[in-house]
Amino acid sequence: MLRATTEAFEMPAAITTIDAHQNRYRRIRAEPVSGVVGARVDDVDLAALDAETVGELRHAFAHHGVLVFPAQHLTPAQQVAFTRHFGEVEQHPLYRTATLPEQPEILVLEHKTGQFINGRNDVWHADITFAERPPLGSVLYCKDTRSGFGDTLFCSMGAAYEALSPGLRKLLDGLRAVHGAARMVARNNAQTYNLRIDDVPDEVVHPVVRTHPETGRRMLFVNPIYTLRFEGWTEAESQPLLDHLYAVATRPENVYRHRWAVGDVVMFDNRALMHYVAVDYAPSVHRLMHRTTAAGDRPR
Ligand code: SIN
Repeated sequence: MLRATTEAFEMPAAITTIDAHQNRYRRIRAEPVSGVVGARVDDVDLAALDAETVGELRHAFAHHGVLVFPAQHLTPAQQVAFTRHFGEVEQHPLYRTATLPEQPEILVLEHKTGQFINGRNDVWHADITFAERPPLGSVLYCKDTRSGFGDTLFCSMGAAYEALSPGLRKLLDGLRAVHGAARMVARNNAQTYNLRIDDVPDEVVHPVVRTHPETGRRMLFVNPIYTLRFEGWTEAESQPLLDHLYAVATRPENVYRHRWAVGDVVMFDNRALMHYVAVDYAPSVHRLMHRTTAAGDRPR
């Protein structure tokens, strides 16, 4: 029998704070697309931004983690210029051959005729955490897709941290983790067709919980492809706890799933999220994304 509950229902943080955010914006509206992560920003032309709009977009980006801009028309140079509003634009440290020849800052992510031309991303990850300074975030521009297939999913690592018990948060606050590219390189060398990586960079160590430099929010900073183990722990000891963190982070309530349309620009905060691309399409589906990346700082 269903029993009525008198417990108060707590609204997700992104919804309760939305009015406060909206009240400070004069040039944009950022409508949340899920309870924990993401907002849709209509009616801006990313090729023609004034300084006030850029300031508001930077604020919305830090607070929502994902910004969705439908129906954009950007040249490669305009995409690079937009990305530069958030940080220095950097190339992928390993995928140097997978770029647009005329605009090498643009990484080409493509699936056609059953082949993943430059990498297959159906694994939860944050980008390039094997670097000393992993990216701040990336801009994805959808050039071709069959809508309803190849969605990209984003999960909030701030909400994941907040969902843990105080005891586990305290343990994690004192831990660091070793990150490396070996798993990703092995996976890509086995699965992609025009990209072979022979050198694996040295491993690096990052805090397991980092503080967002703009919002001050504490967030988990581990991911299944690059985090190898906790510092001073074996992989066998680390994996059960890491698996628990990934399970909490990727609960459906903690995820925004973006359904692509050609012309969408989606920008995500790599410091605060993991992402995953659903490979649920037929070999005949052409999926083409242009990605640019803004440089980040050392996680603290
Ligand atoms: C990625 O940056 O991991 C790929 C995102 C996508 O293709 O949607």
